[in-house]
Amino acid sequence: MAILQIQDLVVGYGRFPVLHGIDVAVEEGEVCVLLGLNGAGKTTTVTSVAGLLRPTSGRIVFDGKPLGRSSPSARVKAGISLCPEGRRVFPRLTVAQNLRLGAWSRRRSHRAVRAQLRLVLDHFPRLEEREDQLAGTLSGGEQQMLAVGRALMSRPRLLMIDEASLGLSPTLARTVWEATSRIAREGTTVLMVEQNAGALPFADRALIMEKGTISRVAVGDEVQQVNLREAYLGV
Ligand SMILES: Nc1ncnc2c1ncn2[C@@H]1O[C@H](COP(=O)(O)OP(=O)(O)O)[C@@H](O)[C@H]1O
Ligand SMILES: [Mg+2]
Repeated sequence: MAILQIQDLVVGYGRFPVLHGIDVAVEEGEVCVLLGLNGAGKTTTVTSVAGLLRPTSGRIVFDGKPLGRSSPSARVKAGISLCPEGRRVFPRLTVAQNLRLGAWSRRRSHRAVRAQLRLVLDHFPRLEEREDQLAGTLSGGEQQMLAVGRALMSRPRLLMIDEASLGLSPTLARTVWEATSRIAREGTTVLMVEQNAGALPFADRALIMEKGTISRVAVGDEVQQVNLREAYLGV
């Protein structure tokens, strides 16, 4: 069953639509990559799912229930988590403090937060080694891991990661994508936004976005055959 369905979604800033009625379905347990050039509307899509933008029309259905006008925090509690573009960790807080902040929606259960922290540190051993270090002193790749780890702390069913690879070396980008594959194997559905086609080998589904529309959907074996020149660059 699709855990996330986006139906005929129109979203804009002011009067001008940026998403022109997109349809998306993400199946439970899969890794889906939303691939497109700068300005295509990828961030607009995931921030709308997170409840940070109000759609003009259309529906977003999560786990069979329309999200309607529910607040961002209600969506986190429902199981949706967004790791936003640009990392945005709190530089003057430690790694552990940053991670704990990601669990604010579950803060009353200390035991559950500790268990989730254990799981996140198992995914990112580099963070465990640096637990007491200030986040601002981490390398770019480590900050990205921290941002993904923090988004995981709310124990989401759907984890959306906006441009994890931006500014990372190819090796570090692979490290982050490999971690997202492991996260998905443990049962969290992942929707990752990328400009970098290097993410394709890690995906079960690819959605190509161009100028606010989904121009191509590839599933399973088709993902590795996505002809980027044709489908993505419009050549
Ligand atoms: N806050 C904003 N106000 C006005 N226009 C915006 C805003 N954010 C994004 N846009 C415009 O919406 C379009 C899609 O942006 P975005 O969703 O950020 O694309 P992507 O993430 O694919 O690079 C772009 O043309 C961009 O200029
Ligand atoms: Mg973006």
